[in-house]
Amino acid sequence: MEGEPEKWILMVTARTPTNIAVIKYWGKRDETLILPINDSISVTLDPNHLCTTTTVSVSPSFDRDRMWLNGKEISLQGGRFQSCLREIRARAQDVEDKKKGIKIKKEDWQKLHLHIASYNNFPTAAGLASSAAGLACLVFSLAKLMNLKEDNSQLSAIARQGSGSACRSLYGGFVKWIMGKEDDGSDSLAVQLADEKHWDELVIIIAVVSARQKETSSTSGMRDTVETSALIQHRAMEVVPKRIVQMEKAIQNRDFPSFARLACTDSNQFHAVCLDTYPPIFYMNDTSHRIISCVEKWNRAEGTPQVAYTFDAGPNAVMIARDRKTASLLLQRLLYNFPPQSDTNLDSYIIGDKSILEDAG
Ligand code: DP6
Repeated sequence: MEGEPEKWILMVTARTPTNIAVIKYWGKRDETLILPINDSISVTLDPNHLCTTTTVSVSPSFDRDRMWLNGKEISLQGGRFQSCLREIRARAQDVEDKKKGIKIKKEDWQKLHLHIASYNNFPTAAGLASSAAGLACLVFSLAKLMNLKEDNSQLSAIARQGSGSACRSLYGGFVKWIMGKEDDGSDSLAVQLADEKHWDELVIIIAVVSARQKETSSTSGMRDTVETSALIQHRAMEVVPKRIVQMEKAIQNRDFPSFARLACTDSNQFHAVCLDTYPPIFYMNDTSHRIISCVEKWNRAEGTPQVAYTFDAGPNAVMIARDRKTASLLLQRLLYNFPPQSDTNLDSYIIGDKSILEDAG
């Protein structure tokens, strides 16, 4: 390690969007390595909306690794953080900043300590996949700081060990997490199916039904499902493999009716296995169910799907409209059916494109 001791600090900042699964991951075959029981497919959101921004820094004056989330210090002791840090440190390379006169040798990374500051611009742990954006951003920014040579797919296998869904946030556009076959998890990683420009007329609208922290975490929920649900094996072995093939085709052909049908039925089946878990897990609430009815009625009246919906481990609705005009109509319908200052109002809407609100009037 060269450079004036104690004085220097090296920093990297990165921003990573969250992703929303349209074919869900639910259930692990290995809890420590985070290996799933089925493939999953997601769409990565626009980085301007739901994202995590993380700054990682290293300095010889730091006496231990520390992390802050939304300005509050959190523990880095959890096994998952430690797995990610260990995996990244093991792959760290020499780093040189000639301007600052800093030279870090790869073996120095084992002794140097890190400070990590992370911000979510959306509610943490309210079923909006905050861990996905957070862990992906952590891994990506550390990989840049330590000059890793690995590509995004290889980095995704590290992010996976922080939180399964995080591996899909290393790419934009449509992403598949291949479950893999190896026991060491080396082939359980994310690949990009199509980039962000491939199907850019789609607009995502998120209705925040409740910004409160969810009662059952994804991690414990899926553990209970694997242990107690009779339906989960059927889903993982029979249903999802077929849906993955169909969803890849729908994305490739920009076939909205097939895409919507697959996304909605997969979300519904995920919540059905939650209900089949003992004790049952209820992530959706009455407002979530009313949103589903509203979208289903509209789709049926039009004769062809206009909007797809999907719900993760919480009551918030993620809706995907086929184009901007439909998104504007959807917002009008939501505002009409869930008026502000009523019993059924929504906490807020987060939308994929700001100008849609103006279009909606
Ligand atoms: C419902 O990735 O949060 O959002 O791997 O235990 O951290 P862990 O779980 P997590 O689970 C996400 C579940 C889901 C579906 C999905 O994103 O595919």
